[in-house]
Amino acid sequence: MENTENFNWTYKIKEYFDKKGKIPKAFVQTYGCQGNVADSERIKGMIFDMGYLFCDDVKDADLIIFNTCAVREHAEDRVFGNLGRLKKLKIKNPDLIIAVCGCMVQRESVAKRLKNNFNYVDLIFGTFVTDDLPKLLYQAIETKKTVIDISENNLIPDENVKRIGKFDFKAFVPITYGCDNFCTYCIVPYVRGRLRSVEYQDVLSRVSNLVKNGYKEITLLGQNVNAYGKDLQKENLFSKLLEDINNIDGDFIVRFMTSHPKDLSFHDIETISKLEKVEKHLHLPVQSGSDRILKLMNRKYDSKSYLKLVDYAKSLMPQVTFSSDIIVGFPGETREDFDETLNLIKQVGYSNLYTFIYSKREKTKAAEFHDETDRETKVSRLEEILQLQKQITKKLNENLIGTNQRILIDEKRGENSFAGKTLSNVLVTVNSKEDIFSKFINVKITDANISYVSGEIIKE
Ligand code: 5AD
Ligand code: SF4
Repeated sequence: MENTENFNWTYKIKEYFDKKGKIPKAFVQTYGCQGNVADSERIKGMIFDMGYLFCDDVKDADLIIFNTCAVREHAEDRVFGNLGRLKKLKIKNPDLIIAVCGCMVQRESVAKRLKNNFNYVDLIFGTFVTDDLPKLLYQAIETKKTVIDISENNLIPDENVKRIGKFDFKAFVPITYGCDNFCTYCIVPYVRGRLRSVEYQDVLSRVSNLVKNGYKEITLLGQNVNAYGKDLQKENLFSKLLEDINNIDGDFIVRFMTSHPKDLSFHDIETISKLEKVEKHLHLPVQSGSDRILKLMNRKYDSKSYLKLVDYAKSLMPQVTFSSDIIVGFPGETREDFDETLNLIKQVGYSNLYTFIYSKREKTKAAEFHDETDRETKVSRLEEILQLQKQITKKLNENLIGTNQRILIDEKRGENSFAGKTLSNVLVTVNSKEDIFSKFINVKITDANISYVSGEIIKE
């Protein structure tokens, strides 16, 4: 949609509330991954321009937006549950606008269920049309009828909108939208569409502006950042992007996620190792340690090639850490397959794991696979991984005792207690009487816990 058109709808909504002499309030709830968080930041920017302020309690809201996730059934159940609780608010205040957007509504069956069983939802808009929010919201307010737009396109959202994030020194920068990989369990390609890379110069100028405005941490986002530029028929564009961002003047760090083992190249690893502003951490989801299961998942790598990447990264960067997503109970996963996953976890020595029980998703290939493992077994496998991971993280954390680390403080935990992460993505807590929030601080690590380490500030 044309920006000027958007501007007109934005103005109309503003005018509508001005006439009423009302400053409307919005509540935006985000489910799911960082991609959704980034979308919500754009949505918040747009509704702020319409004159909305934000509230932390749904009860105070004139507009409620749920930005949803479809990756697992559990996430969808939560949304339906929370939506159910909004019914009484709508009865009390018929002018309240309830909107549901994101991956979940892009599924036709969900959009239908919302329309039929949650008739107090006013606006349903999918992942491809977030830029049209001003028009759609105006229609919902004006017509008082349910407005639905879950149409698809192959565009990328307007990069020049205002964004409102949680921090004014850390930013998410999407570099790709969608995904081309069609892992057999995954719904993302169906609800987010094909891979679309954001224009190189747009990414670069956005990062430059953020750094100019004092931002200290930039996180590049994509379902598979290593595929950046592949839709533009450009090779190694992710590495080049990292180099160009690293060359921007300023004291800041660059994070990126998610790396895909089939597309992360040795060249990428060399680049990451050389660039001082780029994190020494790879979120490199392996999903399973069994080659048989990896094949069934259509992941296009095997455990051997995965471990080669890990070993190469370790050889170039002694301080590198890895995190991963693991799915347990994929259809047909045997105890032997699962043992191979446990073995791989031990070999890599992840600093952090995100573990999920397989969830059957409509339209995906794996939904047709025969799944005979009972839920109890899956839950106990998940528990086994968590126990193993605790031991591994504790050991890694203990190895850090006595080392000096530089961290960006992004959390105030208590009166004099703060936390932040190292370039290798390790969580560090530190005490300080001075307010060090949003600053880079040098610390000496003194203690190790299961999920974090503690340090003391090094006085310069
Ligand atoms: N069931 C369980 N986990 C899933 N993921 C994606 N799809 C499913 C599914 N159907 C997990 C993968 C992915 C992460 C974002 O979510 O591990 O990397
Ligand atoms: Fe889903 Fe696979 Fe794409 Fe990740 S790479 S979003 S798991 S299809």
